[in-house]
Amino acid sequence: MRKFALLFAGVAVAGLASYPAVTAEDKDKKKDDRPDIVVPFVPTKDEVVKAMLKLAAVKEGDTVYDLGCGDGRITIAAVKDFKAKRGLGIDFNPERLKDCEKRVKDLKLTEDEIKKLTFKQGDVLKMTPEDFKDVDVVTMYLLPDVNLKLRPILQKGLKPGARIVSHDFNMGDWKEDKMEKVTVDREHTVYLWTIKEAGK
Ligand SMILES: C[S@@+](CC[C@H](N)C(=O)[O-])C[C@H]1O[C@@H](n2cnc3c(N)ncnc32)[C@H](O)[C@@H]1O
Repeated sequence: MRKFALLFAGVAVAGLASYPAVTAEDKDKKKDDRPDIVVPFVPTKDEVVKAMLKLAAVKEGDTVYDLGCGDGRITIAAVKDFKAKRGLGIDFNPERLKDCEKRVKDLKLTEDEIKKLTFKQGDVLKMTPEDFKDVDVVTMYLLPDVNLKLRPILQKGLKPGARIVSHDFNMGDWKEDKMEKVTVDREHTVYLWTIKEAGK
């Protein structure tokens, strides 16, 4: 766990430096808008994205949410490569949403793929169980504390059979159903949980 905290600490400055400038007038508002825990932007390597979506068995017809979507790579891969019906990426940082738009353009997605994608600004820590009722797969690359805050919301909101995959960070004493190691530059861990029954 310590290893990963250090890894994130290394990129935190770069991530934070890319936030839009905060003016004197909106300083208080910005303070309120910021999530309680700030997770920096560290994109998941494409090979690890593939491993996450494979482990979650994303298939045609699935709805996939990436919480803290960064440049949208997981959401886009879910739709483009795994034929998900719908992909939603949420990030609190407006700069990341511009990155998502750019990625969609650069990858020359089809009209049909674009229609299936939504990127929106928001704080995932403010999401409620109701937000997850129609979701088949949730992906995350956040931090242990954020995972633990999201855990009861996901357990309450997701339907039986829904899957959660997390890159590198687990959910405390909620034992994963599967775990995989993927080596790209370093060893990455991918965790999978499947909702067994409503509320668990
Ligand atoms: C480690 S990056 C992962 C990005 C992407 N999911 C991936 O795996 O490539 C974490 C992302 O979560 C976003 N984020 C952090 N805390 C958030 C929050 N509370 N609500 C929404 N987005 C958040 C950050 O802006 C950042 O883009």
